[in-house]
Amino acid sequence: MRNLEARHYTDPGIHAADIDRIFARTWQLVGPASRLKTRGDYIATEIAGQKVFVIRASDGIRAFRNVCRHRGARLLPEGAGRCATIRCPYHQWVWGEDGSLLAVPWWGDDADFDKTKWALDSIQWQVWRGLLFVAIDPAETLASQLGALTPEISAEPIESYAWVHEERLIFDANWKIYTDNFVEGYHIPGIHPAFHQAIDFESFETVALDNMVKMSAPPKDGLFYRGKWLWMWPNWTLSLFDGGMNTSRINPIEPGQTELIYNFYFEDVSEDGAAPRAKTMADNLAIIREDFEICIETHKNYASGAYRPGPLSPHHEQGVAYFQRRLLEAVV
Ligand code: FES
Ligand SMILES: [Fe+2]
Repeated sequence: MRNLEARHYTDPGIHAADIDRIFARTWQLVGPASRLKTRGDYIATEIAGQKVFVIRASDGIRAFRNVCRHRGARLLPEGAGRCATIRCPYHQWVWGEDGSLLAVPWWGDDADFDKTKWALDSIQWQVWRGLLFVAIDPAETLASQLGALTPEISAEPIESYAWVHEERLIFDANWKIYTDNFVEGYHIPGIHPAFHQAIDFESFETVALDNMVKMSAPPKDGLFYRGKWLWMWPNWTLSLFDGGMNTSRINPIEPGQTELIYNFYFEDVSEDGAAPRAKTMADNLAIIREDFEICIETHKNYASGAYRPGPLSPHHEQGVAYFQRRLLEAVV
């Protein structure tokens, strides 16, 4: 098996196909459902540039495109917040939490105008074990997309962990370069020397399962990670550590820029635990940031035209081969 050709990471046409055939057709992790506690609580985000939001309505959660039906403005600013009504900042049209158009100020005389025709475009949403997902036009059910993850963590009490923090990190490399890097442990000695010392690297194992790549290594004393890292098709991760877990979504901004949206969850949310929690999150984020430079420089080599596809290790790069095979099936 060879690595993908460089154009898969740099060609704007392939990037557009990634959005149409992967990001718009799959369930995307938004974050903890617990952040939508009170009526009007919302989270607005992008799925590979497609603006969407989820909101707590009186009768449950609703999810919509974050696109005004008048002239296309963004309705709610990205991030989490609370609103009484959904009011477009541009010309002040107002929608209810069910997406129906309620008010069109200063419109003028227009007997033909029918408010019921201009409801917001809704999208699908689902909560799985406390995690909220949305999908624009899903090709399969969430349960089927989750694949091998469901049995893998059935014994982990993930819904009992409390959400503590979200962190957004942006770097200049294609989302697939970052994913290739995430689904192999081959780079740990070179890129994460301290992390390398903290695990039994000779026993590092990577296995590709149904819609999931599982990496594991016995941790040595003192490592906060539990020695198991999971990546799920097409773009999210879940890692367990002592007393909690993190999730991330790998979200393309453009072909050469990606954001990671990390969420941290803990069992112990006591005041006394604040310092150890902060240390766990800082240590986690430091390891994540160690990957950026190698991804950025690799992206430049792919973009320069100088790279010809090299071979993939049968031992360490099975996850890379699996991800790339799935990409080719989805897009080409
Ligand atoms: S674009 Fe939203 S009200 Fe005009
Ligand atoms: Fe890494």
